Amino acid sequence: MRRSSIDQRTDHHPLPESPATLAPALRVSGFTKTYADGFTAVRDLALEVPAGSFFGLLGPNGAGKTTLIGAITNLVRPTAGRIEVFGHEHETRHARRLVGLAEQEINLDRFLDVEEVLVYHAGYFGISRRNAKARAKELMDVFDLSAKAHVRPPALSGGMRRRLLFARALMHRPRLLILDEPTAGVDVELRSELWEYTRRLHREGTTILLTTHYLEEAEALCEDLALIRGGRIVARDSAAGLRARYGARDIAEVYAKAMSAAAADGIAATGADAQAAAAMTPAEEVAR
Ligand SMILES: Nc1ncnc2c1ncn2[C@@H]1O[C@H](COP(=O)(O)OP(=O)(O)OP(=O)(O)O)[C@@H](O)[C@H]1O
Ligand SMILES: [Mg+2]
Repeated sequence: MRRSSIDQRTDHHPLPESPATLAPALRVSGFTKTYADGFTAVRDLALEVPAGSFFGLLGPNGAGKTTLIGAITNLVRPTAGRIEVFGHEHETRHARRLVGLAEQEINLDRFLDVEEVLVYHAGYFGISRRNAKARAKELMDVFDLSAKAHVRPPALSGGMRRRLLFARALMHRPRLLILDEPTAGVDVELRSELWEYTRRLHREGTTILLTTHYLEEAEALCEDLALIRGGRIVARDSAAGLRARYGARDIAEVYAKAMSAAAADGIAATGADAQAAAAMTPAEEVAR
């Protein structure tokens, strides 16, 4: 990834300062999701992510992280609850413009080339084709995809597809960037470059919401964390606050202790009411 001029720019955010700027990046209350098959993945979840923070959402497979992210980004319809993005109700056009998402699942249109993926995406946000092409060029440069501008996703490597997802999420300069396991399958070198770039976005004022199973990454990056299990928040504090509360050396130890305690309280790894995971010992689940 190259350090292009885009990195020095400060105009990452599309909207002017407004009273809503003072609102948290994310405010979730009473969020419940029961899927069509009757499975309740998340029940009555409350969470606040301060504006400007680098926030980590950690939890085992099936905890409800992607469900929550889906609800924030209007991909999952909440069964109940309220979700606000910088003070705007999440379904509004305002809220949608403020959020950028790099999904866990790589969902690129196989019939569009790299440049088209970026330009089409910008169209959803009312960005003119001319501006979108200029922005796409900048991001292809940053993410080292310029040589692949006219290549379609099936002919990209896995890491290149991840980079394209990342670039696509940034096309409209979101104020809240949500990264759902962005480094799964990414090589060591690219991973550190992605983090370097994410850090820079954060320094420039972008709020980051990150999920990852790499706890050392969370340790290095996140100043605020929530641990989620069975669709509930089981711990939420600054990284330092969590280490102190659990008497832990690092976030990996916090995670192990918080998950064991939650399991002992009968909170299964997945599903607010699920019993299926109860047969698994906490140690086994933490190791997953
Ligand atoms: N469309 C769906 N229909 C029914 N159940 C679903 C659906 N989508 C997700 N779930 C269930 O909801 C639970 C939470 O899934 P979710 O994808 O939110 O977990 P996650 O925390 O993101 O896990 P991972 O770390 O594996 O990505 C899981 O038990 C999952 O099987
Ligand atoms: Mg997920």
